[in-house]
Amino acid sequence: MAKASTSAFVCQSCGAVHAKWAGRCEACGEWNTLVEEAVSAPPGALKAEKTPTAKRGPKTEFIALNADVDTPPRVVIGVEELDRVFGGGIVPSSATLIGGDPGIGKSTLLLQAAARLARNGVKTVYVSGEEAAAQIQERAKRLKVANSPVQLATETDLRRILAALKESNPGFVVIDSIQTLWSDALEAAPGSVAQVRACAQELVRWAKKSGAALVLVGHVTKEGTIAGPRVVEHMVDAVFYFEGERGHQFRILRAVKNRFGPTDEIGIFEMHALGLTPAKEPSALFLSAEAEPGGGTAVFAAMEGSRPVLAEVQALVAKSPFGTPRRSVIGFDSGRLAMIMAVLETRCGVNFAGMDVYLSVAGGYRINEPAGDLAAAAALLSSLSGNAVPSRSVFFGEIALSGAVRAAPRMDQRLKEAARLGFQRAYGPDSSPAAEGGLTVSPIARLIALVDLLAPDAANA
Ligand code: TYD
Ligand code: MG
Repeated sequence: MAKASTSAFVCQSCGAVHAKWAGRCEACGEWNTLVEEAVSAPPGALKAEKTPTAKRGPKTEFIALNADVDTPPRVVIGVEELDRVFGGGIVPSSATLIGGDPGIGKSTLLLQAAARLARNGVKTVYVSGEEAAAQIQERAKRLKVANSPVQLATETDLRRILAALKESNPGFVVIDSIQTLWSDALEAAPGSVAQVRACAQELVRWAKKSGAALVLVGHVTKEGTIAGPRVVEHMVDAVFYFEGERGHQFRILRAVKNRFGPTDEIGIFEMHALGLTPAKEPSALFLSAEAEPGGGTAVFAAMEGSRPVLAEVQALVAKSPFGTPRRSVIGFDSGRLAMIMAVLETRCGVNFAGMDVYLSVAGGYRINEPAGDLAAAAALLSSLSGNAVPSRSVFFGEIALSGAVRAAPRMDQRLKEAARLGFQRAYGPDSSPAAEGGLTVSPIARLIALVDLLAPDAANA
């Protein structure tokens, strides 16, 4: 006799379903990630839906690309930095996943957003599977939003949550977090791939049908991806990451997927004793107050989407006491540092042999742009020679393997912001636009020109 319920082996890393157990997942290549899970329904579905017969039922209607369809307007949250990342407010019938390290401030951010929306008349529900009601009330008190009409629930049972949501019919729902929910239709443990996938799918389906804007909080693994199957990222309309360094008060909300807006916008917040506030002068957050004497720092005129940001790059180049010198980076790509050093050595004759090299970006900021190369090179050269870079100067430009300095996008905006913040000189690619305000632009066509400027002796070594 065949068994009534079968089991499948689900990879806890990528969510792939296998019929047989194996030591290694064929889909993602991870070892020891397959776990047996009972499937009484097809994987991912809580109940098998009837397949419509070919003969009966209404057919799908096609419409023109420019046909009029009912699109309910976006709802502006009223927290400018948050609305910017959402693309101008929350979208009805949508699902968003927000990931981030534990303790970074996800619950704080979402409670503040929920309180603001509730106060503006949007029916708002906050479901926590992680904290007790008293803890959330305590946080609300701290954030001074305790009298906002948010409906709070502490629950992990999906069936009960869905029943309550269907009854109260809210416009904005926060689920904190998706990993704590479980559905009794599955035997798998809460937090397992099967549970996370099934619960997310049911909630997203409900949101699409009811017109609510749903936000799911997701935990991040130590590898930096949202724990559980990647399929949750595919199910939702937008995926945001909330980042920042624990020791710093700045937090950045970054969109990695957004069906309703741009993915290159970031929101910059500051974490205070009374919660998160939008950063006041975000472009100047990652600069130190005083120019440090002795060299080793250079300011990068960066862009984050449509927003200019100035970030200080710090370098330390010192004689290594070890046989194998150390290379260490914070807030910068280690591969790019190796490339910049290789170009400096090969094209410009600068010698880093026997030297430890440390590179760090101030304030917990992370440079993702290739245009940060020139500032990193300037900081390295300045530390190596002990000559400080010219005062009140910024750098931008991508370094090619040939030693040429390449153009960066939106150069005029970078210069404008640097001028606004009182910088006097910019070193950029040959194609940099002309002077801006009180700012003089000095083109650096090839990296050797920067070496001549900052470390003329190093080139002859
Ligand atoms: P939390 O929102 O609980 O983080 P997450 O949900 O991402 O795990 O925030 C936790 C941290 O934020 C905690 O270490 C304390 C700090 N915090 C403040 O500094 N100020 C505040 O007003 C609040 C509510 C939290
Ligand atoms: Mg939390």
